[in-house]
Amino acid sequence: MNAQSNSKTLMEIKDLRVWYRTTRGNAQAVDGVDLTIQRNEIFGLAGESGCGKSTLAKGILGMVKLPAFVESGEANFYRSVSGSTAVASDLIKLPARDMRKMRWRHIAYVPQSAMNVLSPVARVEKQLLDAIFEHTNMSKKEARDRMFECLDMVGLEPAVARMYPHELSGGMKQRVTIAAAISLKPELIIADEPTTALDVNVQQVILQELKEIAADLGLTLIYVTHDMAVHAELADRMGIMYSGLMVEVAPVVETFKEPLHPYTQGLISSIPMIGGGRERMTGIPGNAPSPLAWPAGCRFHPRCPYVMEVCREKVPPMIEVAPNRLVACHLHPTPLSESASPADLSLPDWEEAVSQAPVVQAIQDIKEGGETAEELS
Ligand SMILES: Nc1ncnc2c1ncn2[C@@H]1O[C@H](COP(=O)(O)OP(=O)(O)OP(=O)(O)O)[C@@H](O)[C@H]1O
Ligand code: SF4
Ligand SMILES: [Mg+2]
Repeated sequence: MNAQSNSKTLMEIKDLRVWYRTTRGNAQAVDGVDLTIQRNEIFGLAGESGCGKSTLAKGILGMVKLPAFVESGEANFYRSVSGSTAVASDLIKLPARDMRKMRWRHIAYVPQSAMNVLSPVARVEKQLLDAIFEHTNMSKKEARDRMFECLDMVGLEPAVARMYPHELSGGMKQRVTIAAAISLKPELIIADEPTTALDVNVQQVILQELKEIAADLGLTLIYVTHDMAVHAELADRMGIMYSGLMVEVAPVVETFKEPLHPYTQGLISSIPMIGGGRERMTGIPGNAPSPLAWPAGCRFHPRCPYVMEVCREKVPPMIEVAPNRLVACHLHPTPLSESASPADLSLPDWEEAVSQAPVVQAIQDIKEGGETAEELS
């Protein structure tokens, strides 16, 4: 299907649902995500483990395989044509053959572990050149030049081309996967926790390189991680996922300075502060619910310190409360222009609210009653 879009929009995800078949029913891992990705931005996808980040990334990449399946929705990708307004393809409906062509050439993927994509029995140059030849008509010389250019961009010496993966460190291997991802100058790169397996210092350097590469090549990067500190460093805009849904989407500065969703506030309060004198963070009380049975109303309500009656019954719609700031929470029922004052956007103090929250009170009562974990289970 061809369609036109606002030229700034690269991707438009509409009501996407990606579920897993299980013996206990469908695990509704991604369950109604709406999201727009702009050209040339670094978009950080955040949320606790199990909230559906990787499932959403796979949905976007057309990598959904059984037991996962797309229940419904669209993922329109606006490929640029001759630098002007783009042609849309719904990646969900694209035949597998066309999707394979689209991947690498227009959308590339950097996985969590380089081991998953690099063949242990082929030299780096073979792996990079094969990918280039498969998707372009480049001559051997052009392809080799491109390969060395990409190795250089990720800070690797030309000699690395002759090496096998087992001769490389973890950081070098991950750089090779980034070189492979950028080798065809795609418009979009989706990186799913690409540096979590690495040492913190190496992680830092690679993140910086990735940011520079995205700017130099003018590409769009969707960066997936549960690590809020990485988003603070890397992202232009962020999307916070909870229980298969997007709950807040906003520029990174606003997200950290003035989180609108209580869950975002909780995630930020869980970041360890180096030298901040806080040994324990407040964190978020309770556990994430199961995708086999989401809570009714707002899915965060069993853990939310500000829960109201309406939250238990009604799903909060995603509202643009201010330009470029979307939130799905009954605390923010109207756009900013209609609300009484900008102060309405501020949430009460998180630490104080959490200490009063029913989940925390229950834990407190148990502790005071002297019960042990074994007695509770
Ligand atoms: N093969 C599967 N079968 C059933 N459920 C699955 C399967 N894979 C994932 N899930 C469920 O889907 C939900 C979302 O998983 P997903 O891997 O997308 O989360 P995530 O946000 O990427 O987590 P993490 O930060 O740990 O990588 C989880 O509740 C998970 O248990
Ligand atoms: S809708 Fe209600 S329960 Fe959900 S996050 Fe907002 S205040 Fe909390
Ligand atoms: Mg994941």
